[in-house]
Amino acid sequence: MKRVLITGASSGIGLQLALDYAAEGWQVIACGRDAARLAELSAQSSNIVSRRFDITDLAATREALAECTADLVILCAGTCEYLDNAVVEAEKVARVLSTNLLGPVNCLDALLPQLAPGARIAFVGSTASLIPLPRAEAYGASKAALAYFARSLGVDLAQRGIAVSLVMPGFVATPLTARNDFAMPMIITSQQASGYIRRGLAKGAAEIAFPPLFAALLRLAALLPQAMQAWLAQRLVR
Ligand SMILES: NC(=O)c1ccc[n+]([C@@H]2O[C@H](COP(=O)([O-])OP(=O)(O)OC[C@H]3O[C@@H](n4cnc5c(N)ncnc54)[C@H](OP(=O)(O)O)[C@@H]3O)[C@@H](O)[C@H]2O)c1
Repeated sequence: MKRVLITGASSGIGLQLALDYAAEGWQVIACGRDAARLAELSAQSSNIVSRRFDITDLAATREALAECTADLVILCAGTCEYLDNAVVEAEKVARVLSTNLLGPVNCLDALLPQLAPGARIAFVGSTASLIPLPRAEAYGASKAALAYFARSLGVDLAQRGIAVSLVMPGFVATPLTARNDFAMPMIITSQQASGYIRRGLAKGAAEIAFPPLFAALLRLAALLPQAMQAWLAQRLVR
């Protein structure tokens, strides 16, 4: 039986991935912080066990993941806080970077020694890191840094036979985006997101960006001069 470890499995995209992999017959280690939601998830399938820890707490992460191994690790836990009126609040930026960048790093500090050749690690970044979006200084920076970390680690881990994938979703309807007060173009459901991710990982794709048209438009926009990127980005989320 193949085993997948998913962080952020108590909500949104990670929750859907946990349910879908369990239904496909995988053994799922579902990680999160919310005990009630994790218990509810585990109760839905005998293939799901849960581990509760905060990924920003290195000691707790090491303790929770000690001796844990998996064929597939999906680092999906993440957060988003926007800057308001270009006020750079250091604590806010630190919270976002700590969860979105150092959280996955903490998980890998604990997990990597146990991973065998043939394993795959999937980092959940964001298409938001492709172009400069308004108010997304902290979030976009955390995901851009995560993307670099993933690509660089992929180069090094190839020698150990461990593959790395970077997942870059567009807008997905989850509790995270329910807080957004702006129009979210081409938004998809968490079921659709899970489908894109699982199909991409099954194919061994190094990058899984979706929905395809949205991702292609952002990639094209990223080729434009900076001033045009900024002009476009302002209109994209208005
Ligand atoms: N939704 C989108 O449009 C979208 C687009 C691009 C990328 N993404 C990325 O996709 C991932 C999942 O997002 P989502 O929309 O599914 O969000 P969500 O519904 O808010 O779920 C976030 C998950 O991350 C977990 N988490 C957050 N901080 C954590 C911490 N410090 N320690 C442990 N777990 C923590 C939460 O656990 P608890 O609830 O148990 O605390 C929850 O399970 C994130 O990395 C996000 O940046 C989302």
